[in-house]
Amino acid sequence: MADPPPAGAAGVRFTTRLRLEPAGPAHASDLWLVHGDEEVWPWYGAGRPSFEQAEERARFMGDSWRLHGVHKWVAYDRVSGQVVGRGGLSRTPVDDDWGQLYAFLPAEPWVRDAHEARHPFVAHAHWLEIGWALRREFWGRGYASEIGRAGLAFAFDVLGARAVVSCTARHNGRSRAVMERIGMRYAGEIRTRGTVEGMRGEQDDAPYAVCVRLRDPGAAGNG
Ligand SMILES: CC(C)(COP(=O)(O)OP(=O)(O)OC[C@H]1O[C@@H](n2cnc3c(N)ncnc32)[C@H](O)[C@@H]1OP(=O)(O)O)[C@@H](O)C(=O)NCCC(=O)NCCS
Repeated sequence: MADPPPAGAAGVRFTTRLRLEPAGPAHASDLWLVHGDEEVWPWYGAGRPSFEQAEERARFMGDSWRLHGVHKWVAYDRVSGQVVGRGGLSRTPVDDDWGQLYAFLPAEPWVRDAHEARHPFVAHAHWLEIGWALRREFWGRGYASEIGRAGLAFAFDVLGARAVVSCTARHNGRSRAVMERIGMRYAGEIRTRGTVEGMRGEQDDAPYAVCVRLRDPGAAGNG
């Protein structure tokens, strides 16, 4: 059993309009509402996820909160209680795809350090990924940026991260706009399995835009 996350880290958090709950097995139905949305799933895979896949994903998120001290939140309207979306942070796997991001981070040892918990996967210790997905009816109201700002604050102020990155398909203009709105800086592109403009399903070698936010932007070697 790993050490518990820092006090308060895995608890419910609030923004101006949202209640952010650490995702886990109890959130499978709510996550499915988001991941199964017709305007959301095409950005993530070749088909609409099944409920069983949502359950599996929710279990994985719960394991990540427990073992890595962080993963995505499910976001609810504070007043109505409606499921708005999901978003926030997750640790990045130490693997070839994510290794492409070293080029956009400072040339310092912390970038390659692995987190002490080897499960549910071997992850980078000092930098995280941030993302967002909203049910279609909640687009255009600033909720993704609200989640994004909460995620950055959580990364730097609670987890003590050195950097946060965000990746999205080159043609995902709405997601790129969120990154810019919350003060992330475009760094370049990587190639990974994912969506390509004008093509159905997933492709190998899809171009993904990368934005970065460093905790200490003045540090030497920032790309
Ligand atoms: C990517 C995604 C989360 C962006 O959502 P979004 O609603 O466009 O982004 P924001 O929450 O930051 O909202 C910004 C918009 O709300 C508007 N807005 C309205 N009220 C607002 C308020 N109170 N505060 C801030 N912005 C507000 C802004 O003016 C802006 O409008 P614009 O898009 O016309 O310029 C959404 O399109 C989505 O879920 N897409 C599918 C999943 C996906 O692609 N995820 C990313 C994969 S990497």
